Amino acid sequence: MKRILIGIACLLAAMLPAKADTPLKIGLIAPFSGPFADYGKQMDAGIKAYLHQHGETVAGRRIEVIARDTTGPSPEIAKRLAQELVVRDKVDFLAGFGLTPEALAVADIATQAKKPMIVMNAAASAVTAKSPYAVRFSMTLPQVVAPLAVWAARNGIRKVFTLVSDYAPGIDAETAFKKALSEAGGDVVDSIRVPLRNPEFAPYIQRVKDARPQAVFVFVPAGEQGIAFMKGFQERGLAAAGIQVIATGDLTDDHMLDAMGEVAAGTITSAHYSAAHESPENKAFLAAYGEADGTAGRANFMAVAAYDGMSAICQVAETLHGRIDGDEAIAILRRLKFTSPRGPIAIDPETRDIVQTIYIRRVEAVGGHYFNVEFDKFTDVGDPGR
Ligand code: PHB
Repeated sequence: MKRILIGIACLLAAMLPAKADTPLKIGLIAPFSGPFADYGKQMDAGIKAYLHQHGETVAGRRIEVIARDTTGPSPEIAKRLAQELVVRDKVDFLAGFGLTPEALAVADIATQAKKPMIVMNAAASAVTAKSPYAVRFSMTLPQVVAPLAVWAARNGIRKVFTLVSDYAPGIDAETAFKKALSEAGGDVVDSIRVPLRNPEFAPYIQRVKDARPQAVFVFVPAGEQGIAFMKGFQERGLAAAGIQVIATGDLTDDHMLDAMGEVAAGTITSAHYSAAHESPENKAFLAAYGEADGTAGRANFMAVAAYDGMSAICQVAETLHGRIDGDEAIAILRRLKFTSPRGPIAIDPETRDIVQTIYIRRVEAVGGHYFNVEFDKFTDVGDPGR
């Protein structure tokens, strides 16, 4: 009897239009303080840019973003925040996730609660495998790294030392680089993994110098670590010794480039987004980003992933007329395809991971500021790491 009554209640609820006075709630989980505080700020500013451009309601519902600070990297806190957002705040979507360990910790909650988990950065391949409700709008490390290794080999860079952060994204980057470089005829001569928290780069950089490779491939999480690495690289005279840096775009994060200054000039990286990307969509995004917030500094790849993730959420809300069901939302998200400020993007229906263009870029001064200037590209790249 109870089941029948519940069934009738559900049926009646489904027939009613979504209540206009019930906000569409998005729980944004990211670090907003601590060493990775910029991740949360960039995502928040990317979301604000989208709302500034498209308005703060969708399918008749006001959009409410509930931001929660993990202070991370802190998987335990991320998990607790996700539980609270689901149970107490009754969010329709979970979003954010700057760091892979935090995304992995929330995946089980998303599965149990059937809440779509909109990944706006976390980039180890395993993230989308951990929950059928995870959909990624950022990148994966293998997706960004494999094209760089191919580009390096094509350009005569065949003996490479790898230096990565010692956690899932770094290990994915190292593995993908080794595989792609050896398939392209090159060789990784040695590899180092450095701590995720406060790495002291000097001794590692000296080891790279002593090994005399043609290049060092680097992945460190975006932010202050990029500045520390580039300074150490310069101080120890690696460039003078003929050793080149090639890296994922995390090293030359747009948000940090001007602070890095001259030492970054000429660095070759691969990535899915550069603030210098030339397209009408990027121009509109950057304008909205500046107008909506103005305090977050130059937009980087996390701001763009958040902007696109917000677009995806609104596309789902519109298709479902404001009434969000987790499984129906995932069915729509799996088939999404649209033009991002970074270029064309699509979600792979099998893996729920993003398929996009990966650009090869060089740091150059443009109009008195440093930018990652795109000069080569690999189109329709999926995640080779799955
Ligand atoms: C991650 O933890 O997945 C991560 C963090 C920072 C990055 C890239 C990936 O720049």
